[in-house]
Formats: sequence, C-alpha cells, structure tokens
Amino acid sequence: MRKHQLAMVSALGLWFLAGNASSAADPTPPTTRKIEFEKTDKTYRYRLTEGPVPALGEHQVLVHMRAVALNRGDWEVLTIDPGVDLAGRIGGSDGAGDIVAIGRAVRGFHPGDKVTSLYFRNWTDGLPDARKTADVTGQNVDGVFGDYVALDETAIALMPATLTYAEAATLPTAWLTAWNALRAWRKIRPGDVVLVQGTGGVSTAAIQLGAAMGARMIVTSSSDDKLQQAKTLGARDLINYRTSPEWSGQVLSMTGAHGADIVIDLGGTKTLGQSAKSLAFRGGIAIVGGLTGYDGVVPAEPLLVKMGTAYGVFVGSRADYYQMSQFINMKKIHPAVNRVYRFEQIDEALAQLRSGDFVGKIVLEL
Ligand SMILES: NC(=O)c1ccc[n+]([C@@H]2O[C@H](COP(=O)([O-])OP(=O)(O)OC[C@H]3O[C@@H](n4cnc5c(N)ncnc54)[C@H](OP(=O)(O)O)[C@@H]3O)[C@@H](O)[C@H]2O)c1
Repeated sequence: MRKHQLAMVSALGLWFLAGNASSAADPTPPTTRKIEFEKTDKTYRYRLTEGPVPALGEHQVLVHMRAVALNRGDWEVLTIDPGVDLAGRIGGSDGAGDIVAIGRAVRGFHPGDKVTSLYFRNWTDGLPDARKTADVTGQNVDGVFGDYVALDETAIALMPATLTYAEAATLPTAWLTAWNALRAWRKIRPGDVVLVQGTGGVSTAAIQLGAAMGARMIVTSSSDDKLQQAKTLGARDLINYRTSPEWSGQVLSMTGAHGADIVIDLGGTKTLGQSAKSLAFRGGIAIVGGLTGYDGVVPAEPLLVKMGTAYGVFVGSRADYYQMSQFINMKKIHPAVNRVYRFEQIDEALAQLRSGDFVGKIVLEL
C-alpha cells in the first residue's frame, strides 16, 4: 500500500471514530482511560476505568489530555449532594491538552491546538446568567479526567503559549477565580493592599497575580513554613491565623491603620468577621470560598463604617480567561505547582489535597 493510501486509511479511521469529525493524524487509540464517579451508599468515589474514545457531537472537540489539576471541589463533590446523579460521569473540571479531532460544525479551533477546559460549559463572554452558569465541566456534564475526552467548543480556550501543560491545567478554576476576585470590584492600583487566606490553589494564584499587578499582598496561613513559601511567590506580609486568630488587628497595624483594599475571603463562616474588620475605607470583600462553611454572614457594621462592598465571585467566563492569559504571558508568570502525580495515582493525589499539606496546586499527568 502506498504512503497516501495509508494516510487515507488512518484518516478514515479517525473520521469514523469521531463521527463526522476532522482530525490531525493522531494515533488515537480505540479506547481511553477515564476516571468516573461511582456511587457508594450515600456518596460517590472515583473509579479509574477504560472505555471507548467518545464519538464527537458537531460542536465538540476531542482533546488528548496531557495534565489535569485537582480542585477542592473535586473531593467536595463526592460528599456534598450535587443535586444530580453523577454515577458514570467523567469527573474533573481542569485539564490541558491537544485537540486531535473536531466536530464538523466547529469553527474556532483546529486539530493541533493546545487548549485547556473551562469550568462553565456555556459562559463564553458577557454577563453571567442562569443558562451560562448552569453546566459545570466534570459535574453535570462529562469532565476532563481521561486520556481522550470530548468537550464542547464553548468549554475550551487556547492555553497561554508560555506555560507547560501541568501549569496550564491549573488555570480554568482556581486561577480564573483569583483573577476575577482581584478585578471584579475594581482594577488593582499599584500599592493597593490585598489580603488572601490560606496557601491553596486560589490563594497562591491570587498572590502571584496580585503581586504582578503591583499590589502589596498579605497572606494568612496555618503554618509558618507555608507562609515562607508564600513569600517566594510574592506575598509581602505574613500572618499565622492559628497563633493570631484575631488577625484583623495585625492587618491594620502592619498597614498603618489603612487596612486591605481587597480581601479575598476563602474561609467563609469563620473568617468573614475578621475579613470585614480588615477592610480599608471603600474596600471590597470578594466572597469566594467556604473552607469553614458557606453559611457565613458578612457583618454589616464594619462594612458600613468602612463604606465597603462585598461581592460574590464564581470562577468566570472564557473572555475573562483570555484577559488573564494575556496578563500571564506578558508578566511571564508560572503557576505554582506543588506536586505532579501520574493519572493512576488519583487516590494519593486526592489524599494530599484533603490533608492540606501543600502550597499551590496538585496536578496529575497523563
Ligand atoms: N467561588 C468560586 O468560584 C470558587 C472557585 C474555586 C474554589 N472555591 C472555594 O474556595 C476555597 C479555596 O479553594 P482552593 O481550591 O484554593 O482550596 P485548596 O487548594 O484545597 O486550599 C485550601 C487551603 O486553605 C487553607 N485553609 C484551610 N482552612 C482555612 C481557614 N480556616 N482559614 C484560612 N485558610 C484556611 C489551608 O491553607 P493553610 O494551611 O495555609 O492555612 C488549605 O491548604 C474552597 O472553599 C473552594 O471551594 C470557590
């Protein structure tokens, strides 16, 4: 058989596989490893399994995943009732890889493009609404935990050219959330004081982005050792919230009574009080996390006295992602990756995530 005939046969194979899709000459195998939700008594667990490479819808792309990043939500979703049956669904919202085939109606992406997933399947741009924020990758639609996964063209973005797959995999949820927490209230001005809590994914992203914007970054953590690591990422002022539970006093004294122009609240129930007391006049509290519970109350009195604002942040759109990506390229930022596991080490990686024994992001390579 001649060379061009061989190429035709392989291209036809892929066409068939992807259901009317066009593809790069990628040696896509017939089956893929994937990590699915499996129902236990009352909750779920992840199960590594093998199945056919998915057929593509007209508006989907087939991505050969190279790295996926874990989020706190990836284990929270196992125990908190998601309101939908997850059994058999592929987990994971954040991944980076190469497009190997596209559905016939896909216009903006091509085989060979390096992309990441996006948290929201349908929030490409503009203001959020119920439709745009209804579908979440790896929760109520299939996610990225697989060697080959099918994603809607609205649920992917070109990844920043300067990053590795492992670094880019951290962007879709934690980094985009940090980006919007820093920008949704107002643009950071050089010298603004920004406070973040803890040293996990969202916090370290905020430290790296905020420092690159010229902000004075204050970080709280349970551990002096982690605080020192946060310093290497750009934090200037360090507070141990275990030894200083009333840390708002420290924020005010270390800033000459100015306080924080922006507080990114990740603690929730038990931190909102201190967050409000830490505010500068006309400051803003980004309501982002619920590490100690999501049933918190923003105290009215310190907010009133400081004439401050509290605003919710829920990840962001693809348009936000592209703005962040441009900034990352321009500032040559490399997301802090704490540890890279092999895909099949998912349980070990989740155990580290649950332990809190890390600074930055935890990634699995495929
Ligand atoms: N709104 C959104 O769009 C959005 C997006 C992503 C995540 N989230 C939420 O944001 C929170 C953080 O997520 P993540 O992915 O960054 O988590 P993560 O990577 O698991 O980081 C968790 C870190 O938070 C710190 N922490 C734990 N308890 C704390 C407390 N009481 N006060 C301050 N810090 C505490 C710990 O760091 P130290 O040991 O250094 O204290 C821990 O390592 C979670 O609640 C998550 O569900 C919200």
